[in-house]
Amino acid sequence: MRKGRFTKPAAEITQRYSESVSFDQRLYRYDIAGSVAHAEALSRVGIITLAERRKIENGLHAIEKEIESGKFKWECSLEDVHMNIEAALTKRIGPGGAKLHTARSRNDQVALDVRLYVKAEIAEVSSRLRNCQRAVLDLTEKHLDVVMPGYTHLQRAQPILFAHYMLGQMEAFERDVERLRDCLVRTDVLPLGSAALAGSTIVLDRELIARQLDFARVSQNSIDAVSDRDFVCEFLFCLAMIGLHLSRLSEDLIIWNTTEFGFVEFSDAFSTGSSLMPQKKNPDITELTRGKTGRLYGNLMSILTTMKALPSSYNRDLQEDKEALFDSVDTVRSALEMFAAMLPELKINRERMQAAASDPNLLATDLAEYLVKRGMPFRRAHMIIGSLVADCVIRGIALNQIPFAELKKRSSLFDVDVAKIFDVRRSLLQRRAIGGPSPKNIAAQIKRWKAKL
Ligand code: ARG
Repeated sequence: MRKGRFTKPAAEITQRYSESVSFDQRLYRYDIAGSVAHAEALSRVGIITLAERRKIENGLHAIEKEIESGKFKWECSLEDVHMNIEAALTKRIGPGGAKLHTARSRNDQVALDVRLYVKAEIAEVSSRLRNCQRAVLDLTEKHLDVVMPGYTHLQRAQPILFAHYMLGQMEAFERDVERLRDCLVRTDVLPLGSAALAGSTIVLDRELIARQLDFARVSQNSIDAVSDRDFVCEFLFCLAMIGLHLSRLSEDLIIWNTTEFGFVEFSDAFSTGSSLMPQKKNPDITELTRGKTGRLYGNLMSILTTMKALPSSYNRDLQEDKEALFDSVDTVRSALEMFAAMLPELKINRERMQAAASDPNLLATDLAEYLVKRGMPFRRAHMIIGSLVADCVIRGIALNQIPFAELKKRSSLFDVDVAKIFDVRRSLLQRRAIGGPSPKNIAAQIKRWKAKL
């Protein structure tokens, strides 16, 4: 590459500073697929002969095998994955290899490789999300009738079913899958043929290349095509959101796993010990996931910041997209794998959950709604029940221990049937509007998810 324009090689320190092959070598498969398609397009316009095209293809496939077997020698001095493979090809097949880079620049080549990589990873991450959803659904089905308190502000609020909580996680993961599908629409665009920034005087059939590489569309502006990393930003956002969801789930499980709550217990296989305190069993997997989510946000910030003041078309800054991208992919892949393995072994302590949910105060809203159903405006009912709760606190009794006569004094709308308000399961049965935690709704949701997964 430097033979024409330069009089001496790049300094050692320059090579080390600017190389990307140490990390972009993971794109080799996409680089080779792109070159095979490019060679076909070149042969169609007579830049290379059919024989040369075959030689290029065979050479590239041999190089692919060599890389896969670990025998390929990556050279830092050749900067990146593109130059390494091209140099190896020319060494293998001679002059034919030297024709491959016609009407192509590393600027459109790297954009192509990264798009192919992101497309593949969208599929992989989606499939791991599905595995996670399957694990959530299995856990839900195994504990269908477990009642627990639902919380707001981390204060006991109203009774729910554990299944209802878990199905909430399903929704979040589903949005993640949808977001990835949407990100794919803008990733699925072929940039190859844009060359450095202005296309080429050698006119290739880009539609053909797109078909060969399974792209849905062809980029419509060569300057934009080599500049555009929106799809990387979007994908990193998708991954950051997955992290956010896993982190919130982690936080709930960490709290529920405390001795104070005792709602769940992590399997020994997914817990760690303390080097000092012999009794400790720590929820490090969920803590790590919460922590790694910070890295995912950092990677998103990093690409957004890299992009914000770049002049149009290609600038070398764009090389900085890859480490953040790869790191987020690796992080989310492993986190999803962990959760799919860990959730089925999560022990659910139904007695502890049920005991916590049997606090009659959790049905204070139901009590207010009892009065509403008998004609009282909600605000007034809210006030009456609120003052009853305050009374109970002073007297050290539960809301369901107030003598009926006293209730009657607060409102003549109270009737003897008020006692049944304090039946948690009855309360759940009634919460049957779409989205509510009634057992009937939950059964319908499970049916819906099963059909989907
Ligand atoms: N390693 C480079 C990157 O990742 C490839 C493109 C280099 N192009 C250039 N004109 N120097 O972006």
